Amino acid sequence: MSMSRPLLVAALLVAVRLAWRLAAPRAMSAEQHEADARARMAGRRATDYALENIREEERAHIARELHDDLGQLLATLRVDMSLLLQLPIADGPTRDLLNGMDGRLLSAITSLRRIASNLRPHALDEGGLYFALQSLRHEFEQRHAVACELAAREDELVLNDRYSTAIFRIVQESLTNIARHAHAQHVHITLRRHRSTLYLTIEDDGRGIAQADMEKPSSFGLLGMRERVWAIRGDISITGSHRGTRIEIHLPLPEQAQLSG
Ligand SMILES: Nc1ncnc2c1ncn2[C@@H]1O[C@H](COP(=O)(O)OP(=O)(O)O)[C@@H](O)[C@H]1O
Ligand SMILES: [Mg+2]
Repeated sequence: MSMSRPLLVAALLVAVRLAWRLAAPRAMSAEQHEADARARMAGRRATDYALENIREEERAHIARELHDDLGQLLATLRVDMSLLLQLPIADGPTRDLLNGMDGRLLSAITSLRRIASNLRPHALDEGGLYFALQSLRHEFEQRHAVACELAAREDELVLNDRYSTAIFRIVQESLTNIARHAHAQHVHITLRRHRSTLYLTIEDDGRGIAQADMEKPSSFGLLGMRERVWAIRGDISITGSHRGTRIEIHLPLPEQAQLSG
C-alpha cells in the first residue's frame, strides 16, 4: 500500500520537526537564561559555603589538637628544663646548652600558639569579632612594625559565627598580603554599619596592587576573599594606585546574622 504524496510530505515534515526538537536544545528566553544562571550560581555558593564550613571545622579541630596535645607537651618539657637547670650538674657549657634549649622551647611554644590561633582564632570564641580584630591588629603591628588603625564599634559587630568568621578571615588575609607585598607604612581598617549593611574598608599606603596581580592564576588569597564575600551575598572591589591598595566590601546583614544590637 503506497501513501499519497501530500501525506508522505506531511509525515516527513512531522518527523523532521520531531527530530529537530529532540536534537536541538529548546531556545530559552533571556529571563530563563538569567534565572538558570542565578540558580546555578546559588547552587555553587551553597556548595562553597558548605565546603568552607567543613574547612573551618577542620581548622578548629587541628587547632585544638595542637593546643591540647603538642602545647601541653611543650609546656611540660619547659617545666622539666627549669628543674634540670636547678641541678648542680648544670654548670658552664651544660648550663649554656640548657639555657639555649629553654629559649628554643619558648620559641616553639610561641610559634605553636600563633599557628593554632591562625587556624581558629581563640579571640573569636572568647570575645567576639571586635575583640578578635583588635588582637589581629595588635599582633600585626607588633610583628611587622607597621601602624594599623581599626575604626569600628563593638556593638555593631555582634554577629553570628558565619559572618564573624568571614569578616575575620578577610581582614586576616588582607593584613597578610600587606605584610608580604605592600611595603606600607600605615593601614586603616574601617567597619561601620548603616541600617542592615556592613561596610568594611581596608586601606594601605604601600606600592599598590596592579591589575596583573589580581589576574595571576596563583592569586588564591584574593580569590578566597572574593568567594567568602560572594558566599554571603556581598560586593567586593579591590583597587590599587601609586598611593596604595584599597579593598572595599559591602555586606548585607540578614536578621539571622545579627545576634543583637
Ligand atoms: N596590599 C597589597 N599591596 C600590593 N600588592 C598586593 C597587595 N595584596 C595583594 N597584592 C598582590 O596581589 C597578588 C595576589 O595576592 P594573593 O591572591 O593573596 O596571593 P599571594 O599572597 O599568595 O601572592 C600578590 O602576589 C601581590 O602581588
Ligand atoms: Mg595572599
